[in-house]
Amino acid sequence: MTRIAVAGAGLIGMRHLAALRVAGIGIHSVIDPDPGAAGIAAEHGVPHFETLAAGLAAGPDGLILATPNALHRKGALAAIAAGVPVLVEKPIATSLEDAAAIVEAGEAAGVPVLTGHHRRHLPVMQVARERILSGAIGMPVAAHAMFWIAKPDGYFDTPWRREKGAGPLLMNAIHDLDMLRFLLGEVETVRAVATNRVRGHAMEDAAAAVLTFANGALGTLQCSDAVVAPWSHECTAHDNPAYPPTDENALWIGGTLGSLALPRGTLWHDGGRRDWWAPLETTRLLRDIEDPLVAQVRNLEAVIRGDAEPVCSGREGMLSLAVLEAVKRACETDCVVRLSE
Ligand SMILES: NC(=O)c1ccc[n+]([C@@H]2O[C@H](COP(=O)([O-])OP(=O)(O)OC[C@H]3O[C@@H](n4cnc5c(N)ncnc54)[C@H](O)[C@@H]3O)[C@@H](O)[C@H]2O)c1
Repeated sequence: MTRIAVAGAGLIGMRHLAALRVAGIGIHSVIDPDPGAAGIAAEHGVPHFETLAAGLAAGPDGLILATPNALHRKGALAAIAAGVPVLVEKPIATSLEDAAAIVEAGEAAGVPVLTGHHRRHLPVMQVARERILSGAIGMPVAAHAMFWIAKPDGYFDTPWRREKGAGPLLMNAIHDLDMLRFLLGEVETVRAVATNRVRGHAMEDAAAAVLTFANGALGTLQCSDAVVAPWSHECTAHDNPAYPPTDENALWIGGTLGSLALPRGTLWHDGGRRDWWAPLETTRLLRDIEDPLVAQVRNLEAVIRGDAEPVCSGREGMLSLAVLEAVKRACETDCVVRLSE
């Protein structure tokens, strides 16, 4: 049986442990210096290690690195050096330089690196991508992604969540940017603005960006963790029971023959008439049935066995981070940022 270690038994690490259980994949150990982690390991009946070095020395088949962002580079490089395939939580790193170090080390050593952009594992997103590629919405023209949600004050009690870089762009909107890349391909230019006027923390609490894609489509991103609203992937995808479910959407892709509202998975079209007076019809792509975190650990296991390619590789995580960094640079400089730079 494949046995995967989980480093970082915090908010998302706990969900990875649960996903491994649901997927029937072995949990090798829990690695976390927090005193409470020993109890979590005991609940799962597996060893607890306080350091990554000790956990890796015990020989897991794979590692899920769910530690704070700033520790991703060090942890991923340690896993690669030990020859252990690693799924690094998003963002893959806090800088492109760190991301490149991870990706290049993994590729040089032949050790698989995956990024935890779990939304790619949602069946509805995979079908949406297939439909776009097969021409169901015609030529993609426009896209809009929304992340509007209200993080409670207690969320910011954890010091690293108040620090520069840990704002909703890097923590949350990177998922939306990754989804836009997944569905529409590479981004060419970015314009953006950000503000911190609600909380006054070191990082933004609202941002807006305009993206152009290599395929010619135009995209917009709205991101705020200080707005009470139903339009976020978190509330609309129903893939994380922690968030109140709404039946809204958070991502729209528009084309010359139709448009998609996601994650509900509604395809709007007018039967090819392209007439604003023609009645619009809707088709439901499909209902999601699998928790994307479970699908993600299944993919990790298949990659470890050599039976599959990563659905979201380290390199893909790095490319999404590049778009995120471009958004941040556009906010700082008030200039158009070209990804080719
Ligand atoms: N995919 C998603 O939707 C999603 C959701 C939440 C968080 N995340 C990402 O997961 C990571 C963790 O976020 P979180 O919200 O769970 O954080 P958290 O603060 O709740 O948990 C982090 C855990 O890491 C532990 N830790 C600290 N140093 C460690 C070390 N050296 N070795 C092992 N463990 C160590 C901490 O004790 C803590 O238990 C971040 O990168 C975050 O961006 C992803």
